Amino acid sequence: MPTTVLVIGSEGQIGSELCEALSAKKIEVIRADIKLETAPEKLQYHLEASDKDALRYILEKHKVETVYLMAAMLSATSEKFPEKAWHLNMQSLLNVLDLAKEKYLMKVFWPSSIAVFGPDTPKNNTPQETIINPSTVYGISKRAGELWCSYYHQVHGVDVRSLRYPGIISHKTAPGGGTTDYAVEIFSQANRTKQYNSFIKAPTTTPMIYMSDAIDATLTLMNAPAENISIRTSYNLGGLMISPEKLAKHIKKQLPDFEISYTPDYRQKIADSWPESIDDRIARNDWGYHVSVDLEQMVSIMLANCL
Ligand code: SER
Repeated sequence: MPTTVLVIGSEGQIGSELCEALSAKKIEVIRADIKLETAPEKLQYHLEASDKDALRYILEKHKVETVYLMAAMLSATSEKFPEKAWHLNMQSLLNVLDLAKEKYLMKVFWPSSIAVFGPDTPKNNTPQETIINPSTVYGISKRAGELWCSYYHQVHGVDVRSLRYPGIISHKTAPGGGTTDYAVEIFSQANRTKQYNSFIKAPTTTPMIYMSDAIDATLTLMNAPAENISIRTSYNLGGLMISPEKLAKHIKKQLPDFEISYTPDYRQKIADSWPESIDDRIARNDWGYHVSVDLEQMVSIMLANCL
């Protein structure tokens, strides 16, 4: 029997492309998001991600087997609304894990982030296990979530899997409220006005990947045999090492008139607290993580598609 999947946060940057990728594999996808109207005949629901009863209703009605919990408040917005961020990011996860424990569903995907790392974490080739003292509200929620995932796996046998996503670059749905958002905005601004004022300093480097690699990694992890999954907190995931000046240099190759300027704001401190590159050997060895889209290709795709 085909699997039924629920994507919570289906209209967001990652959720929207995840739904497309799952549907392309002929998997029945139910979309749930605070931005949707409920229309069960279209397999879509208005859902507050932290509403456990509403979630249980959807799981039961559609006999959902797998949940991808993609709704979250990202790093920059979380600094402005710490309590809301904690409630949304934590309660939604605890509800899903609890319902998995109660056997309403079989498998859970929950995204963590490079934001779990903090200023005292080794910056280069950051290991899976290292000093993990996040200094942002978002990072604290992600680290706590990782530990809850591991706890529910160990104590209740829940098959929950997770990735520490780097910044994700995509053109179909814009990210919102993240620190790495500049790496998406820069392309639409380049196409529209040939200039971009970056809120992150020129050389500040953070790990990022193109969306198709993030989606592939997510689906590969979820399809891997359970015995291959050695990490039940969240897997390190590396990718491209991106800075505003590096992106600008590559954009200029295709748009020679492009100009970048810099006005760092409060998001600079967040980016400064994150690693520059990530050691993701465990993900490569356990289930074959790899990056297919390199920097040149990513810049070309983004310039060709960002309006
Ligand atoms: N891209 C996210 C952010 O900037 C990090 O996971 O908040």
